[in-house]
Amino acid sequence: MAEISAGKASSKYQIHIAGKNLPKSVLNKHIGKKNKVLIISDKGVPKKHIDSIKSIINNKNKHVLILEQGEKSKSFSSFQEIMNKLFELNFDRSDCLIGLGGGVVGDITGFCAATFLRGIDYIQIPTTLLSQVDSSVGGKTAINVPQGKNLIGSFYNPKFVLISTSFLKTLPKNEYESGLGEVIKYAFIGNKKLKSIIEENASKIVKRNEGILKIIIEESIKTKSKIVTKDEKENGIRAILNFGHTFGHAIEAYEKYRNITHGAAITLGMIIASKVSYFEGHIKDYQLDNVINMIDSLGLKTDHSKYKYTNLKKYMKSDKKVSDGKLNLILINKKFNAFKTSKFKNKNIIKALN
Ligand SMILES: NC(=O)c1ccc[n+]([C@@H]2O[C@H](COP(=O)([O-])OP(=O)(O)OC[C@H]3O[C@@H](n4cnc5c(N)ncnc54)[C@H](O)[C@@H]3O)[C@@H](O)[C@H]2O)c1
Ligand SMILES: [Zn+2]
Repeated sequence: MAEISAGKASSKYQIHIAGKNLPKSVLNKHIGKKNKVLIISDKGVPKKHIDSIKSIINNKNKHVLILEQGEKSKSFSSFQEIMNKLFELNFDRSDCLIGLGGGVVGDITGFCAATFLRGIDYIQIPTTLLSQVDSSVGGKTAINVPQGKNLIGSFYNPKFVLISTSFLKTLPKNEYESGLGEVIKYAFIGNKKLKSIIEENASKIVKRNEGILKIIIEESIKTKSKIVTKDEKENGIRAILNFGHTFGHAIEAYEKYRNITHGAAITLGMIIASKVSYFEGHIKDYQLDNVINMIDSLGLKTDHSKYKYTNLKKYMKSDKKVSDGKLNLILINKKFNAFKTSKFKNKNIIKALN
């Protein structure tokens, strides 16, 4: 069992990492004396996970709302559906939402909690590896609109985050690998302990060994919570969490958000960004190999030859990391620390995407 804290002062919250036994008393302590609880989940989350959480909640007044699975549930219509449910159940500010699912469920639940009656408590119980190491921590909540993903939302911290490795057993392979992409990211943006743990335990990680999963989740969250607590509103250091994301987002957009998971796209993005770092002279050739070998050792794809500069160019230009018309990149240095820069030669991007 491990507990990590994130957030500042009054919006501070605990992140609890458990193994296969769900910590009933800890969850109930954080729900507290709330009258009503609404668990929000989606159709892709196995029913047994929903039942297991529902069964350990002490409150008598507990309800479940199941959304459709996928990005379409981060929408105005799901927002409306959840709001209607909250009014129907007579929710007030002393009640609580629980987002039980992946990042989709977490983001829409957080956005509803932030806006219903100008803000009610919510608890994140992330069930995908990606949501456990990334989206459940940091307080970003959002919905999608036709103009783009995550364009409407707010920064609103949860009251508590409960993580259990037991949920990960049922996760499809591509979703598991998607989360591993973000774990690898933390290893190359400054968490050297995590980097050695992955290097020494690649096969156990591939086999989803529970003990090692707890450790890599804990290390990933430590890095994320340290960064987001320093920079809650994304004005500075938080940008390094986007290592691999400028190219990754361009790949996802080029693929029309089909056929490739976010983690798989940003993994290729990290390789491309590392190549740019190498061509710019920030890292040595063996360090570039180090990045590629780690990704390969976890069974993730490393071949990005399908994505040429001409294909990705227009999507990179519309990335939110463009400020004053200048593209910023997150690159890495010899010490495997990430930094944001607008100083690089475009020819090195072209070379990396060849
Ligand atoms: N708020 C943030 O800071 C932040 C950060 C990163 C990503 N995100 C958002 O997170 C979303 C992606 O999250 P995701 O990768 O978790 O995707 P997701 O929520 O769509 O989950 C992936 C799939 O796995 C299913 N699933 C969930 N738990 C499962 C389990 N235990 N066993 C089997 N299947 C399970 C889901 O039903 C879904 O079909 C995106 O919308 C992205 O914008 C937000
Ligand atoms: Zn990401």
